[in-house]
Order: sequence, then C-alpha cells, then structure tokens
Amino acid sequence: MSEFLTERRARIAAALHLDDAILLVGAGDPVPLPEGSDQTYPFRSHAEYFYLAGHECAGGLVAFDPRDGAGTGWVSFVPEVTEGERVWEGRTQTPGTPLATLAPWLASRANRPIAILGAPWREVNADAALTATVRAALTHARRPKDGHEVTLVRRATVATAAGFATLREHLRPGVTERMLQIELEAEFFRHGGTRPGYGTIVGSGPNAAVLHFEPSGRAVRAGEFVLVDAGAEIDRYMADVTRTYAVGAPDAFQRDLFQVVLAAEERAIAKCVPGAEWKEIHLACAVDLVAGLVAMGVMRGSAESLVEQEAHTLFFPHGLGHMVGLGVRDGSGLQPGRAKDARPSLRTLRMDLPLAVGYVVTVEPGLYFIPALLNDPARRARFHDCVNWPLAERYFALGGVRIEDNVLVTTGAPEILTAAIPKTW
Ligand code: GLY
Ligand code: MN
Ligand code: MN
Repeated sequence: MSEFLTERRARIAAALHLDDAILLVGAGDPVPLPEGSDQTYPFRSHAEYFYLAGHECAGGLVAFDPRDGAGTGWVSFVPEVTEGERVWEGRTQTPGTPLATLAPWLASRANRPIAILGAPWREVNADAALTATVRAALTHARRPKDGHEVTLVRRATVATAAGFATLREHLRPGVTERMLQIELEAEFFRHGGTRPGYGTIVGSGPNAAVLHFEPSGRAVRAGEFVLVDAGAEIDRYMADVTRTYAVGAPDAFQRDLFQVVLAAEERAIAKCVPGAEWKEIHLACAVDLVAGLVAMGVMRGSAESLVEQEAHTLFFPHGLGHMVGLGVRDGSGLQPGRAKDARPSLRTLRMDLPLAVGYVVTVEPGLYFIPALLNDPARRARFHDCVNWPLAERYFALGGVRIEDNVLVTTGAPEILTAAIPKTW
C-alpha cells in the first residue's frame, strides 16, 4: 500500500477516537439510468471511501477495527469483478480482501457499536448517533490536506489554467457559450484532466448573473461580460476557478464593478491565514463590496450599516467560498461543536470555522444584477432607501462579475494555487 495511505489511515484512526466501535466506509454502487439503456450515471466512489481506500471501486468497503491497531486494523473489502464487467467495461480485479469474507469478519466482532460512513451499507445496522459523531470527526480531520492531496490539486490547477488560457483565445463577439465550454474542457483533457470537476458555467451578458448557469447556444455580443466558472478534475481532485471577461470595449460602469470585485477578492485572500474566522472574512468582504457599490452610486448609506441590514445580499447573495479538492465542496461545513449561524444573510455560507494550515479554500466574491432578487417587491420595500433603484434598473441586463481563486493556507502568506490564471483583460 502506498506510504501516503498508511500515514493517512493512522492519522485518521487517531482522530476518530472510536474506542470499541467498528468503522465501515462504503463506496456506493453505480445507479442505472432509468430507461434500460445498459448505462449508469457516472460513478464516483463516496469521497469518504476514496479518501480512506485510495482508489475507486464500485461496491467496495473499507473497514477498521481499532482493536487491531491504528495502522493494521484497516481492511479493504472489494467485490469480485464479474465476467460481464470484464467483457463490457474491461474492468480488472481491484486489489483487496474478497467481499465474501466481510460476513465472517463482522461475525467475529458481534455486539460492537458500528459507524457507517461513505455510502449506506444496508446489510448492517449502524449506530446513528455514533455515525454522526464519527462523520463530523472525519470531515474535520480531512480538512488539512496532506501532501499527496495538495499535489493532485496543483495538477488540477495546471490543467485548469491551460483551459482558461485557450478559452481566452476564443473570446470574441459571435462565439457561443457552448463553443467556449468546448474549447475549455478539451484543454482540460489535453492536460491530464479526467473530467470537469463540476458542471462548467459559461454565462454571457445577462446569463452571467445566473450563479450556476449552464452554457447555452447564446452568442456573445460586443461589450458584454462573460463569466466562466470551471475546474479540471484529476484523480478525483479538482480546482474551482472563476474569471469574468469583458468582450470588446466594456463601459466605465463595468470596469468599476470589476475593479470593486477584484480588490475585494484580493483583500479577502490576504486574510486567509491560520486562525482567521471564515465568517469574519466573508462579512469584511461584503463590506468591501458594498463600499464599492456606494462609491459607484448604486447603494446608499454606510457600508457597515448596509451589511448589518443584510442589504449586500441583493447584489452578493452567496457565501465567500468553500473548501475544495476531493469534491467541489470537500470538507466544508461547521467547526465541531458549532451550530449553524441563524442570521438569514449567513444561510448561504458554506462553512463556519477558523482556517488552519493545509486548508484549501475558494475565495469567490461576486456582484450581480439578478432580476429575480431586484424585482422582488418584498426586497424593494425592505431596501427602498439602501439602493439607487433607477440606476440599478439601468443595469438589469448587465449580468455580474465573480472572481474565484483557490488558496492554500500556510504558516506564512496564503498561497494562491490558481495565480497562473490571469484575472484582468
Ligand atoms: N463552481 C461552483 C462554485 O463556485 O462553488
Ligand atoms: Mn466556482
Ligand atoms: Mn466555488
């Protein structure tokens, strides 16, 4: 077994404090498409399984008995590859212990509490409370990325940078969102990408204001923003990057909006140091964004007071970012022992924790003109005095700007893993 996996398992065993409990972590099974086409939805082993098994294996199960030792108590049970799988998919046998021996392994450990992580393992009854506790502990222990993981994220950022560089060459009036997606993703694959980490977002003009827009056949027009949010995945590890380009000649308002987001992003990145509270970085960034909108004449009042009133959510409706790596949200969530902050404006924050060395986070502020929010009568009434509404209405078709980088928290200055992808145009 590879050295990194041995070390990882020993570290996780120490962090979980299982005492007498047994841990099972399921990979999950492929889900067939409903119409009987002999195909399945793309399969990915559950991230918790992949992390502890070190490989993809449909139907696999990692088991751990702490009584057998932190280093030696791990068993990787794998199903026997079938003839059909060999014939139709070219699959080979995943190395491990035959799954048929799981039953006696469990029988010899009867009457012990069991936590089941990963995908559900239905043949065995889990202790639900124990499972919740162990899952929270595993998520937290996974947050600092080990060297093997950081190497994979770096490789994903290299392929991602290549994709964005090629996409830029194709940016011109008349190109469609779909054409840009094709150029970007092809370059990911050419640079070792195994797939896009998540659904690529390419939104031109008003579509740039749709946070998770799926590229369409719409042709880009001169003077529009094009927002591209995408990341290559390599061996399950991915980047998550956003750039917003202006095609042709942007006007002064677009330039100002872009500069506000860019400055806010850079200030937020500089704050990504060990011990910094993510929620505080988010709120400080919201103040920066609102101060920019006030300077542009779009919002009215003091930036701090507007953020306290939650008026920033009109133009910045999402959180500042999340963890990324083994999945596009990876180990995001709450610091152990914390409850979700009940403030409505923090509902969309994907994590509430202090940063620590080894965390890889996205920093992704954005400002958007989203008609669904800005035309909402309740918001119009509540924030009547906070916004220069006639000015805002002039830009309802403008879309928006988001800039997103991936940042490694270190003992020193934050390292921007995606620094090779130019932000300006
Ligand atoms: N790619 C989606 C996000 O930025 O979280
Ligand atoms: Mn993104
Ligand atoms: Mn993101």
